Amino acid sequence: MDKLLIRGGNRLEGELRASGAKNSALKMFAAALLADGPVAISNVPHLRDITTMIELLGFLGVEVVINEKMDVEIHANTIKRFRAPYELVKTMRASFNVLGPMLAHYGQAEVSLPGGCAIGPRPVDQHLLGLEALGANIEMVEGYVNASVDGRLQGAHIIFDICTVGGTEHIMMTATLAEGQTVLENCAREPEIVDLADCLNAMGADVQGAGTDCITINGVESLSGCHHRVIADRVETGTYLIAAAATGGRVRIQNANPEHLEVLISKLREAGAKILIGDDWIELDMEGRRPKAVSLVTAPYPAFPTDLQAQIIALNCVAEGTSTIKETIFENRFMHVHEMNRMGAKIRLEGNNTTAIVEGVEKLTGAPVMANDLRASVSLVIAGLIAQGDTIVDRIYHIDRGYEQVEEKLQNLGADIKRLATS
Ligand code: UD1
Repeated sequence: MDKLLIRGGNRLEGELRASGAKNSALKMFAAALLADGPVAISNVPHLRDITTMIELLGFLGVEVVINEKMDVEIHANTIKRFRAPYELVKTMRASFNVLGPMLAHYGQAEVSLPGGCAIGPRPVDQHLLGLEALGANIEMVEGYVNASVDGRLQGAHIIFDICTVGGTEHIMMTATLAEGQTVLENCAREPEIVDLADCLNAMGADVQGAGTDCITINGVESLSGCHHRVIADRVETGTYLIAAAATGGRVRIQNANPEHLEVLISKLREAGAKILIGDDWIELDMEGRRPKAVSLVTAPYPAFPTDLQAQIIALNCVAEGTSTIKETIFENRFMHVHEMNRMGAKIRLEGNNTTAIVEGVEKLTGAPVMANDLRASVSLVIAGLIAQGDTIVDRIYHIDRGYEQVEEKLQNLGADIKRLATS
């Protein structure tokens, strides 16, 4: 298993280009199963999760053509199988979202219950509730969800019990081929949902209200192919902004969307960063200063994203003052805390492990560390960048799931980081 070796202490300085959003692209790959013609997606990041999704489509018999720029063209009408196996779904929860599109288009689907990052139980009850409301017959058989429908799915009025990104996306795309109107309430409002709705509408769907808590879908009989460009990855962008701020550095990120990161930008300003923004770039300058501690609560968009919680804790480890970070989206999402404490951080968990109190220290010390979720792993890389001495981050296959060329991008910013490959 590959590891990353980081010699801490360098300020990050320079410019980089944000990659396309993994969490958008993955759902568009699932949505392509709704179309009769080829769906071309560009600005797709080159990541392990994307490869897993392409492998899954390949398993279904779907032809996927990729060029050297990672433009991906999906020909769903070549589909031969309607079963997504455990081996492919277990590593990535987003793959569960092929269930609804296959069902809506072909009337049948069998998909294993998902896996993904080890952050809490992460059930799919809201996905199933939505599909059943649209008229799906659902049976659970040996860890698989077997779904079928006689004729077309039917539009419905669905109120989600909780705010779920994947659930909103799954039911929104499935309803595009249902007969009649579907109204979804208590929807998540993440930018990736808006991006997916734009892609669906380019395929000929009629989806209104994405980005608000109420989405209306007027079902159509068929969807065509389209071309769609994925938005910038706000979590990747946010990660590099936090990393630069934590090291006292300066970074300009091109191809980013500052509108999607408003709350992070205001938190980083609170931490002492000077930030300039343009239409598609963000520039942060810490001018060598030590960050000030920032407290926050994670919550659904537009509030502070849970996917940047671990990274902001890394910054708070060496900040001036004490911060309180409350996690409200996932249980069990503080695994990085124990590893950071091994590097000399002073963090304690309270409130049944829902809140981290971080007392800023002058310095961290390098150590061998590992984490078993994507964002926790990258937060340990940030901790390594600000620590004195060497840090080895193990199990970085998690990072490869979500960060394109992480060590190259950091090296270009002046970090002393290298991959230790094991055969
Ligand atoms: C997506 C993102 C992930 C991000 C998360 C929250 C992708 C591929 N992943 O994950 O990076 O951290 O949004 O912003 O887009 N829940 C239920 N029942 C359900 C569905 C969810 O109880 O049927 C719970 C989950 O366990 C969790 C909360 O709802 O506690 C939010 O989950 P959800 O928004 O669905 O996250 P994902 O779509 O899995």
